[in-house]
Formats: sequence, C-alpha cells, structure tokens
Amino acid sequence: MNAPTRSFSRRLLLSRSAAVAGASSAGLLLPQIVRAQGSKVRVGFMLPYTGTYAQLGVAIENGVRMAIAEKGGKLGGREIEWFKVDDESEPSKGVENANKLVQRDKVDILIGTVHSGVQMGIQKVARDSGVLSIIPNAGVLAATRALCAPNVFRTSFSNSQPTMALGKPMMDKGLKKAVWITWKYAAGDEAFEGFKDSYTKAGGTIVKELGLPFPNVEFQALLTEIASLKPDAVACFFAGAAAAKFMKDYAAAGLQGKIPLYGSGFLTEGVLQAAGPAAEGVYSTLHYADSLDTPRNKQFRTAYAGQFKLQPDVYAVQGYDSGQLLVQGLAAVKGDMSNKAALYKALETTVIDSPRGKWSMSKAHNPVQDIYLRVVEKGDNKVLGVAAKALADSGTGCKL
Ligand code: PHB
Repeated sequence: MNAPTRSFSRRLLLSRSAAVAGASSAGLLLPQIVRAQGSKVRVGFMLPYTGTYAQLGVAIENGVRMAIAEKGGKLGGREIEWFKVDDESEPSKGVENANKLVQRDKVDILIGTVHSGVQMGIQKVARDSGVLSIIPNAGVLAATRALCAPNVFRTSFSNSQPTMALGKPMMDKGLKKAVWITWKYAAGDEAFEGFKDSYTKAGGTIVKELGLPFPNVEFQALLTEIASLKPDAVACFFAGAAAAKFMKDYAAAGLQGKIPLYGSGFLTEGVLQAAGPAAEGVYSTLHYADSLDTPRNKQFRTAYAGQFKLQPDVYAVQGYDSGQLLVQGLAAVKGDMSNKAALYKALETTVIDSPRGKWSMSKAHNPVQDIYLRVVEKGDNKVLGVAAKALADSGTGCKL
C-alpha cells in the first residue's frame, strides 16, 4: 500500500473513532463499527526490495500471495490489507523498520525477512510486541534457539541446517582438505558452523577460513589466495546477485573444474541464468531443488511461472509455505487471532505440503526437513539424492 492511501485511511479511522466515541457514549453504533474495522487482517511484508537480496524479497512476496490466492485470497475468512517496508538488508534499521509495520501500520502479522542481521531487529520487536511473526528466510540461529518466542515461526531453515549435510558428500568424493569462504555476518558464520561440524566429523580438514564483509563482492584477492593454497575443494556461503558474481569470478580465475566448488545451496538459487556456464558443476546442499520430481513441485512450478513469468526458486517456495502456514493456522481459529493459544497450537502442529516435500515445525518453530544434494547441470539444479533426512535444528537454549 502506498503512503498517501495509508495516511488517508488512518485519518479516516481517527475521525471514525472520534465519531464512535461520541456515539458510544450515547449507546449507539459501537459494536458494528468496531467489528467492521477489525474485519480485515493486516499483513505486513518487511523484505529487501533493493540491494543484493532484492530478488529474494520479491520471490518471497510472490510466493506468499500465490499460496493465499490459491485458497480464496482470505485468511480465516477475513479479507487482507497488505503493507510493505523495504528493509534494504540494513541491520542498523531493523528495529525502526519493524516498528513501521507494528506500531505505525498496526499489522496483525509481520512476514520478514531475508537478512539474519535485520532479523535480529524484527525478533526484538516481535518479542516486545507479541505480534505474530513469520520468518520466510533469515536463518539466524538465535531466532529459534536462545531468543525463540511463542509468536515467532520460521518456514525456511536455520543457517547451519543446509551445511550440516555438506561435509559428508565432499568426503565421499575424497575431498579431504577444504577452504571455506563467506560473507562475514551471521548467515555465513553460522553456515560455517554446520559445515565445520559435518566436514570434520566425516574426517575432513579445513585448511583456511576466508571472508569479506556483506555485501562486498571484491573476491579477486581471496580467489588468488585459494589458487595458491590448492585445497581439494572450496565450500562457501553466498546468496543473491553476489552469488552469481562469485561463481563467475571463480571461473574467470581459472578455478572452475580444477578445485571443485561446493556451497550452501543458496549459491545457485535464482542466479543460474545470470551465472551461465560458470555455475556448471557446482555442488550444494539445500532443502529444495528445482528438479524435484513430485506432482506437488511440478504443479507449483507451473503455476508460479505462469503467474509471475519467472522461474521459482527456494525463496519463492519459502514464501509459498509461509502463505500456506497462515492459511492453515488462521482457518483453525476461524480468523480469530485473539485466540492465541489455539492459533499457536495450530501453527505448531500443522504439516506443510510443500513443493520441497512435506515438513513440520520443531518445538522451537523451525522446519524439520529433508536436505537434498544437488549439482548444476545444463543450467538446472539437478537432485542427486537426500543428503539428510528430516533434519532438525538443535533448538539449543529455546525455552517455549
Ligand atoms: C541470511 O542472512 O540469513 C540469509 C540470506 C540469504 C540467504 C540465506 C540466509 O540465501
């Protein structure tokens, strides 16, 4: 919704409330008007619409809207009023932006976001305000560990989940010495935790950890260092537009085909066209793959491509599942969000029939899901198999 409409509707609301106050003292009108005003569910998107993660934000919003539209465009029988804030993947504005939705727009549901640092701001606002918050991407561990909350549900992954499945396939190929490279912020550092755990447990050695600040894309010096270290493999976390650049620079540095490149699967999501031949042969682990051969995935992909003239990726799936979760949760309480115990119970126990495969919520409100091993072949993320079955995050420290 744009700003003029919003301020118009707020003015209207204020003048109506003044009228209501007068009328109610005369014992008139109040119940009808209050019920009418409360009838729409206010849903706010806090997502990146600019910067390296912009296309991720758009895919998530598309997915949410599509899932809800498929079920009639309402939540628990109530119409929806949408709100949007561009969080720019800027952690320093996280709290302020979340409050634009929670305090200014008075949303009932906040859907956001992509970037783990920004998520920490949303988490604070969600915990302080009690607003229902759905995390459609950001994997920051604290959100479903030490800072978990009854009103916060994640439909995506925890940062260490995809890489918990990465170490073994590398060792199975005899790649015993690896360099790790990432952006130095929570998503990269926590993806490293999963990689380190799985790779060292399988017997691998991490010879060097390399990093650069988010959203920096000056990879050259680091690639030169990798060439001189000559590891058996490289493993990484990058995502969004920068991931395509990383793969192109890797190939241009002469490393493609010489030192196998592995990644947390975000590396090849939504960027295969942009990366072109540089993505060929990249192995990764993730809770989704385009080529999953199930009727559910095919139906989703056809519908999404038809509607948005874009191929869906993991972000679209996570948005779609956020929409599905809300449809099912609000249906269970017939749209009555004041019945929090029943609403949270429904959100906790519902099974999501996702394009990625069926998944359920852990006690800490994070998906328990299969992780797939994929390889890029002819511009497609081809599934090689399930690398980890029904993988749950540890949920360590969460007291719900
Ligand atoms: C994150 O910041 O948590 C994040 C961002 C993009 C991804 C995955 C994780 O693809």
